[in-house]
Amino acid sequence: KDDAHGLDKVVLKTPQGASSEVFLHGAHVTSFKTASGKDVMFLSKESVFKPPKAIRGGVPVCFPQFGQLGPLGQHGFARNTAFEVVESSDSSVTLLLKASGREDERYPHPFELRVSVKLEDEALTQEMTATNTGDKPMDFTCALHTYFSVSSIEKVHVEGLDGVGYTDSLQGGKPLTQDGPVVFRQEVDRIYLATPDTIKIVDEGAGSCVEITKTGFPDAVVWNPWIDKSKAMGDFGDDEYQVMLCIEPAVAGSGAVTLAPGKRWTGTQSLALSNL
Ligand code: BG6
Repeated sequence: KDDAHGLDKVVLKTPQGASSEVFLHGAHVTSFKTASGKDVMFLSKESVFKPPKAIRGGVPVCFPQFGQLGPLGQHGFARNTAFEVVESSDSSVTLLLKASGREDERYPHPFELRVSVKLEDEALTQEMTATNTGDKPMDFTCALHTYFSVSSIEKVHVEGLDGVGYTDSLQGGKPLTQDGPVVFRQEVDRIYLATPDTIKIVDEGAGSCVEITKTGFPDAVVWNPWIDKSKAMGDFGDDEYQVMLCIEPAVAGSGAVTLAPGKRWTGTQSLALSNL
């Protein structure tokens, strides 16, 4: 149990001193500290740890829907639901959600969602596997909605998306093309489509870089709420937009995955830390 909030969590460690915390509520990673002492993830000081509300920060698992791309509530219900632990070691854990299809009448599909987390000294890998356990085809979109901690948002840029097409959620999904690195001087909420599998957050202020490597997720969402949206979110500090950034491997703008009965889909992300 987590002392501060009374919720069940698993603490992962490596012999060299890296650590990570994973809450059963939402299979939600809330922290990743490397052996060299860097705190990679952002967790809001205003986060509410009261299920079914999702935790604000870390890595909410958005499933079976990303955002508003379907009939369900924003980002689907996995992040609002308790998972069970099915396997664990000092540095890894696998969590499972067995959905009966009766969780939400708008999504009458039984499925299993397995989320595993593996910690290394300077890296963290998450794997998400969805299996259709029903007898009808099942469509889903999803994301590993990762909140990164940054020194100062204006000292950060994102590499790996130059020339990639995106839809701008702040302009009604207008299709645009990225020119150069992504920088943050205002609210950003974009779905980059069919991106390369490696994206880098370069933090000049911290002198460090996070390399995100994804498989299975064609798209990547880039989000910073900036001033007005930060104020509008009750579980997010007014100034916290300055020290966070979301890059989210996703199945989103490129279209849903359709899983036939008995079939399985897997997506992964690995986060690796290095100095500039
Ligand atoms: C991002 C979306 O993935 O999540 C944003 O692109 C949204 O539009 C953000 O504001 C946070 O969503 P929520 O539901 O956690 O407040």
